[in-house]
Amino acid sequence: MDIDRPVTGDDDVLVHVHAAGLDQGAIHLMTGMPYLMRLGSGFRAPKRRVRGRELAGRVEAVGKNVTRFKPGDEVFGIGEGSCAEYACARQSKLAPKPASLTFEQTAAVAVSALTALQALRDAGKVRAGQKVLIIGAGGGVGTFAVQLAKAFGADVTGVCSTTKTDLVRSIGADDVIDYTSEDFADGKHRYDLILDIAGNRSLSHLRRALTPRGTLVLCGGEGGGRWLGGMDRSLRAIMLSPLVSQHLRMLLANEREQDIQHLSELIETGKITPVIDRTYPLSETSAAMRHLADGHASREGGHRCLGAGRAHFSCPQRRLCLPPPRHPRPVTRGSAQQT
Ligand SMILES: NC(=O)c1ccc[n+]([C@@H]2O[C@H](COP(=O)([O-])OP(=O)(O)OC[C@H]3O[C@@H](n4cnc5c(N)ncnc54)[C@H](OP(=O)(O)O)[C@@H]3O)[C@@H](O)[C@H]2O)c1
Repeated sequence: MDIDRPVTGDDDVLVHVHAAGLDQGAIHLMTGMPYLMRLGSGFRAPKRRVRGRELAGRVEAVGKNVTRFKPGDEVFGIGEGSCAEYACARQSKLAPKPASLTFEQTAAVAVSALTALQALRDAGKVRAGQKVLIIGAGGGVGTFAVQLAKAFGADVTGVCSTTKTDLVRSIGADDVIDYTSEDFADGKHRYDLILDIAGNRSLSHLRRALTPRGTLVLCGGEGGGRWLGGMDRSLRAIMLSPLVSQHLRMLLANEREQDIQHLSELIETGKITPVIDRTYPLSETSAAMRHLADGHASREGGHRCLGAGRAHFSCPQRRLCLPPPRHPRPVTRGSAQQT
């Protein structure tokens, strides 16, 4: 579908998108679920008609206040409506594209790596030598979290399903727990820091695997109620934290300029490399969204998930895409495909 190029403001950069990344956030924004999301994304329908936020591409034009980029520069970061040929981004949410990665790889970095970085460094205050448990280690955020925790000098255990154990080891985990057959909270090991990205386990379950003064950072997890989703558990954790010896925290990633720059450096120095699930041409945006959503449904049903990392686009065909104008129904259980 053809639509007009986005209009750029004085602080905006118009990016010719070469690749766009998609993660669970895109599903939340599209479905408006949990309802809490609609405060920002629109009550009756998504305010933004084009899906996608992560992007990599070439600068096409810049607003008059933009000083850091010029037409022709290769960039990556967070924009609005990246599942299209052109997207707009604030200059503060872009960084130069690392030369060592393709556009497709780079498009998968910004949101997930930022979340992993801030969860470990800011909320978790990770230190070298600590024992760190990463739950959801085979996903978009988790694969960055494993690599970053190793870069911080931690001893890392990743929790994932059977099909992803080799992958999680290959990106640096010292130990891997297959959650389909083992329980990380069986009392054999305790962790100084737990990063909870997936699974939506109860706080009591998670705390059983923490050292008495350890830190739990809740940063994701699908499911939960229709109104608050996983947020409900995070809010309970914050209220409980002052009453217990362990530190219970939640993370909402902040799209900070210096952190996006820092990610670029971490890539250039080989500390992190994106793991991509699969790529789609832009014309198959809806298939990519279904793939993400089906993975969600399969996890709720306790089955294995589809591949590692996230759905991801390459756009060789340079066609424009427009999503449905109203919130579609949320994905229901049982529609998962196995690959
Ligand atoms: N707080 C923030 O600011 C922020 C930012 C970005 C994302 N998020 C949230 O973080 C979560 C993860 O995002 P993502 O992009 O990493 O999603 P993703 O790519 O779909 O990864 C989630 C991973 O969790 C694994 N998993 C599913 N059930 C599990 C269980 N019971 N125990 C352990 N692992 C399990 C899945 O693989 P296997 O089951 O095959 O191992 C999958 O690889 C989402 O809920 C997202 O909304 C939060």
